[in-house]
Amino acid sequence: MSAPTDHRISDPAARVLADPQAYTDEARLHEKLAHLRRNAPVAWVEVPDYRPFWAITKHADIMDIERQNDLFTNFPRPLLAITEADDALMRDIEAGTGLRTLIHMDDPHHRDIRKVGADWFRPKVLRALKERSDELAKIWVDKMAEKGPELDFAQEIAVNYPLYMILTLLGLPESDFPRMLKLTQEMFGGNDEEMQRGGGVDDMLAVLLDFFNYFSALTASRREHPTEDLASAIANARINGEPMSDMDTLSYYVIVASAGHDTTSAGIAGGLLALLQNPDQLARLQADPSLMGTAVEEMIRWVVPVKEFMRTAQADTEVRGVPIAKGEAVLLSYVSANRDEDIFTDPMRFDVGRDPNKHLSFGYGVHFCLGAALARMEMNSFFSELIPRIKSIELAGKPEHMATTFVGGLKHLPIRVTLS
Ligand code: HEM
Repeated sequence: MSAPTDHRISDPAARVLADPQAYTDEARLHEKLAHLRRNAPVAWVEVPDYRPFWAITKHADIMDIERQNDLFTNFPRPLLAITEADDALMRDIEAGTGLRTLIHMDDPHHRDIRKVGADWFRPKVLRALKERSDELAKIWVDKMAEKGPELDFAQEIAVNYPLYMILTLLGLPESDFPRMLKLTQEMFGGNDEEMQRGGGVDDMLAVLLDFFNYFSALTASRREHPTEDLASAIANARINGEPMSDMDTLSYYVIVASAGHDTTSAGIAGGLLALLQNPDQLARLQADPSLMGTAVEEMIRWVVPVKEFMRTAQADTEVRGVPIAKGEAVLLSYVSANRDEDIFTDPMRFDVGRDPNKHLSFGYGVHFCLGAALARMEMNSFFSELIPRIKSIELAGKPEHMATTFVGGLKHLPIRVTLS
């Protein structure tokens, strides 16, 4: 730990948070984060390619920051991106041509826009989707049996099932599945060479443009012929009596299609790996299916599909006694918060019966994940179908994590499985 002349506490361990590769080695990552929680829970990070930021690694501090959403805003830097990408986004937003989703917004506009889709994520609507969720879970577990005994669970199963769910909720045809799969992966695989379209900012903008073109056509069609689905609710939304702007409309589709997909895929693949690496917990869940609710919650705590979000201080303030100046950004490390020794008993233990489980995988406060109940339902359907059918299951190779500082998890999970 060192205190530079400007008195901002820094620690080399905090650089992992701006290193996509660091997320591929979980043991090392957790070691560094534990060190930060102990020694420099509010650490100043300066690394090439990124604007400096404060790394926040304690659960209580992250909740405090998210609670004060007027002081710590999402705009203009909602997540960690290289300076070039930050600049391009700002330029485009200012010109009215940039993606501006719920995560780029603050209240009151954020509140108004969030309301547009919120009804579709309420328990009543989700209950109606439960049958479809169970049906899709059965289809994809059947596919595991067909493709087995050896398969790459991450690539062949986990990426597909949540996308079908989100397409159902939006009301899109399944024939659009391959296109949406590719686009969402290119968007979130941005740091990983195997997943991305190309390395540069231009490639990322090209992916966004493809999204926009697809959803522009969808908006036009739903305005002409409204149907009973989330896509129609978005296309025909009115804010203060006026139609929602084209950019807000397009951005809404993008956030739902992207946030609703790779996150849950990561939860499912990472959840299965956790069960494989903790056979006593798999056996416990097999013996007592009533643990499914707490098991799913523990998978979500353990995997942390969304690694971080950021906020920007709108006034001079402090966190844990450390002064934060107006305009400085804080990175909220959900990965670290979910292993915080002050909150979780034995945080490095995967425990399918963990209760309470106050993890921050879905964030906190006004931006709390809109799709949390949907994600929980999907994972519940999937593992409720899979677990009782397992006759044998084991790793068939080395699991590989995606290099990303934002959303993701396993990109390959080779398994050998026999199912009934
Ligand atoms: C396990 C799966 C998921 C995880 C871990 C996850 C995580 C998150 C996190 C951390 C946030 C930001 C919260 C904050 O800033 O406090 C978020 C926001 C959001 N999530 Fe999820 N998510 C998941 C699944 C989904 C699904 C299935 C959807 C469905 C469409 C979805 C839609 C959204 C939306 C729209 C937002 C923005 C909310 C806002 O800014 O008001 N998410 N999610």
